[in-house]
Amino acid sequence: TSLLILNGPNLNLLGKRQPEVYGHTSLADIEDLCRRHAKICDISCDVFQSNHEGALIDRIHAARDAYDGIILNAGAYTHTSVAIMDAVASVDVPTVEVHLSNIHAREAFRHQSYLARVAIGQICGFGAQGYLLAIDALVAHLDRKA
Ligand code: DQA
Repeated sequence: TSLLILNGPNLNLLGKRQPEVYGHTSLADIEDLCRRHAKICDISCDVFQSNHEGALIDRIHAARDAYDGIILNAGAYTHTSVAIMDAVASVDVPTVEVHLSNIHAREAFRHQSYLARVAIGQICGFGAQGYLLAIDALVAHLDRKA
């Protein structure tokens, strides 16, 4: 089993960026936690971050036939990008949407997620731990399908 962990715009600044909202853990730390958790689950994971919508779309396309699942925190593109939603819908790779913050408790413009329409589920509000919950959720989902 191999998973792709995709992070979108501004998440490269995690740890420094609005720590009261997003916590003090850096993206490198989160990626490390994911790798360690994946190892415990006996699966592999690759990580990628980009501030560019098209680069994220290219990685989603490349995930077809290459990964069993995607964990996607698309940052603000969550709320704006029909193109990323369409990319996820186009590749037939189960995708879990993750947010560090509880987007439903924040500004109204963050309540809408285009990705929620195509993801198998959404995990938000649990900070960095959400990524590990997402790994568990994907592994369970893939086990059920196997
Ligand atoms: C975020 C929530 C988004 O609304 C925001 O634009 C982000 C981060 C989160 O992880 O909580 O960049 O996806």
